[in-house]
Amino acid sequence: MKKPTTPFSVTGYYGPSYFCDRENETKNILENIRGGSSTILTAQRRIGKTSLIMHILAKLPKGTRGIYLDILPTENMNGFLNELASSVIKNIPDRKGFGKKIWDFIRSLRPTLTFDMLTGAPQVSFALKDQEVNRQIEAILQFLESQDEKIIIAIDEFQQILKYPEENSDAWFRSIIQKMKNVVFIFCGSQQHLMNELFTLPSRPFYNSARMLKIDKIDHKKYNSFILKKFSEIKMLVTENIVDQMLNWADDHTFYVQLICNRVFIRGNKVVNEDDWKEEADRLLQEQEPVFLNYRGMITSAQWNMLKASALENELYEPTGHEFISKHSLGNPATVLRTLQALLRMELIYFDYNREGRKYYKINDLLFRRWVETRDL
Ligand SMILES: Nc1ncnc2c1ncn2[C@@H]1O[C@H](COP(=O)(O)OP(=O)(O)OP(=O)(O)O)[C@@H](O)[C@H]1O
Ligand SMILES: [Mg+2]
Repeated sequence: MKKPTTPFSVTGYYGPSYFCDRENETKNILENIRGGSSTILTAQRRIGKTSLIMHILAKLPKGTRGIYLDILPTENMNGFLNELASSVIKNIPDRKGFGKKIWDFIRSLRPTLTFDMLTGAPQVSFALKDQEVNRQIEAILQFLESQDEKIIIAIDEFQQILKYPEENSDAWFRSIIQKMKNVVFIFCGSQQHLMNELFTLPSRPFYNSARMLKIDKIDHKKYNSFILKKFSEIKMLVTENIVDQMLNWADDHTFYVQLICNRVFIRGNKVVNEDDWKEEADRLLQEQEPVFLNYRGMITSAQWNMLKASALENELYEPTGHEFISKHSLGNPATVLRTLQALLRMELIYFDYNREGRKYYKINDLLFRRWVETRDL
């Protein structure tokens, strides 16, 4: 595995020593794999879903092969097929044995073959008509199903399948994968309401076909110890209290925790004090300011006011409640609800449920929240 340039990655997975905790989640998914069950992995944005998948794929028992594909860039079933075929050969690159068999098989489907200019990785693409596409996807999956080695296919941003123009792609896909025993899936998605819709509504065809796993923030204490350890490994002196402050600022949200620690690391002071991290945090907000001001230009003033108000509330439980509306002068409940729907669609806000099952709304981007809190707008 490639060594990262910093101990706090903000761009991907670099092996277990740069990866904090997730022991229970890892155990849970590996158990599902052993038992032949697929897993539906959901969580809010930037909490560490993709990294967890990479962590698991790196820990697969012998005789098990992992294939990872991200279908966010795909727009239809043909795109899905291209991504699937390319990922299969990328993830099983052996020149002989199993890898060669797969390579020969995919070539027999007559794709166009290109190589990525930067990485040199082979990329295959098909240009086929509707039914033909489905047949080829099925052929690849059946081929994997018939192998001696067990196969794990992790499909990231799986909710994208709902955006395909082909109707009922999810239903078709499920009918295929339900018959499979040797191939186990991990379906991952950050748009939780879509993932829930895909997998839990009885009317939707994935109902009951896999195990749900929702991942949360990393435990505050464990994250603190991990960060202390990483700083001490590079001989930077930082106290538990300073790390606590950074974690609190980042709301224990993985990506933002990594980001602030990464900036403090790059700053390079051998002894990290409160001003160091606070200046770095402020610099991050300054860097993002043009992006945030751009939001303001792109959305209506009602949406902008609602977005700011939600940022200040952190977890917003009663968006149509009198208190919230009058505190921020947001108009009437019907308008607020409409505005909220628009912000949800634009993914500037998401909703989730707390431990008691109460629904709340929250800003997606923590930096935006911190920016609103510290600027007099
Ligand atoms: N357990 C962990 N320990 C340390 N860093 C982590 C951990 N999990 C994730 N990260 C880091 O946090 C960042 C976000 O993680 P990742 O991309 O896996 O999140 P995600 O939930 O897939 O995000 P998205 O919603 O954008 O798909 C990455 O930079 C990754 O390196
Ligand atoms: Mg991801």
